[in-house]
Amino acid sequence: MQIETNKSLRQFNTFGLDHQAAFFTEVADEKELMEALQAARKAEVPAFILGGGSNILLTRDLPYFVIKINIKGINIVREDSRHVWVKVGAGEIWHEFVGHAIRHGWGGVENLSLIPGTVGASPMQNIGAYGVEIKDVFDHLEAVVREDGNLVTFSGEDCGFGYRDSIFKQKSKDKYVITRVVFRLDKFPVLNTTYGDVEFTMHELGFPEPSIEAVSEAIIHIRSKKLPDPTVLGNAGSFFKNPVISPEKFHQLKAIYPQLPGFDTPEGIKVPAAWLIEQSGWKGKRWGTIGVHAQQPLVLVNYGGGKGEDLLLLSKTIAKDVFEKFGVKLQTEVNLV
Ligand code: EPU
Repeated sequence: MQIETNKSLRQFNTFGLDHQAAFFTEVADEKELMEALQAARKAEVPAFILGGGSNILLTRDLPYFVIKINIKGINIVREDSRHVWVKVGAGEIWHEFVGHAIRHGWGGVENLSLIPGTVGASPMQNIGAYGVEIKDVFDHLEAVVREDGNLVTFSGEDCGFGYRDSIFKQKSKDKYVITRVVFRLDKFPVLNTTYGDVEFTMHELGFPEPSIEAVSEAIIHIRSKKLPDPTVLGNAGSFFKNPVISPEKFHQLKAIYPQLPGFDTPEGIKVPAAWLIEQSGWKGKRWGTIGVHAQQPLVLVNYGGGKGEDLLLLSKTIAKDVFEKFGVKLQTEVNLV
């Protein structure tokens, strides 16, 4: 195991922010992970687990022992006539796993095409897009307990999945390192094409009939149009969560803003943060090297040379304006570090 010091994390976060880690190492399996955790304990430096770096905002140099998870492997662990259970290493790139599933004809993750990040990070915030969330295909996961190095498993119920949420962001934050995730995929895929423009885009792209490939291509097309490619323009996807408000609050706002969109959920009415931000005048606004994306105002971008602390200030200023105008609190979706 190679340990580096004062390592630039620029290549390891999709905002492309140039902050340093006090210590840095990469681990390829559970044994190396345990060694790295031990090394961090010995150095008396808190361990910080890094996946694809696509959902973090670095606001400073990190006085941490950064452990980049590179655990690979996509293997069938169980199979019956209808389903296949696939165990995937936490370090696999999410979109590459989606491609693997599609090539093998396994349905369930095609709507989650092109989501940046790694497989290990996917359960942390129950990634979701176009009507599907990871909890819909999740079977269980394996994790290492940070404190004692023991290997444990979590069922879907144990994970406490919610909208962009799980116990790994709440009561179990920083307690475990997710090492492998097992998904249950369908040999006879049931397509979910009801969200937004998915159906229309499949026709537009000329697919003769719906299939998991067609859904995936349509979603890649939609996402590429709206969401900036982090390899070209630094960003971390949606910066804020879509707020969920009470029906009373929604009706109050609707009386003043008849155009306000709202989607019923079991927790309340979900309103698009993108709409609130756009109405507050922030869509496409630029502050020098950083700004609010012109096609999707939920996404903050680093045009190059931007600073994490400025992005944080920008996000706070947007949230303040939205709160003053609508009385709705925006919560960040990315993890502030
Ligand atoms: N909207 C605007 N102005 C805009 C763009 C959107 O007002 O410029 C409003 C419209 O009312 C639109 C609504 O926002 O109908 C929803 O837009 P969209 O379908 O693009 O989805 P979103 O709510 O902005 C969520 C996820 C995305 C995911 C898409 C598609 C969150 C925080 N974000 O965005 O996930 O790709 O749905 O399912 O839930 C991510 O988490 O990083 C992410 C990109």
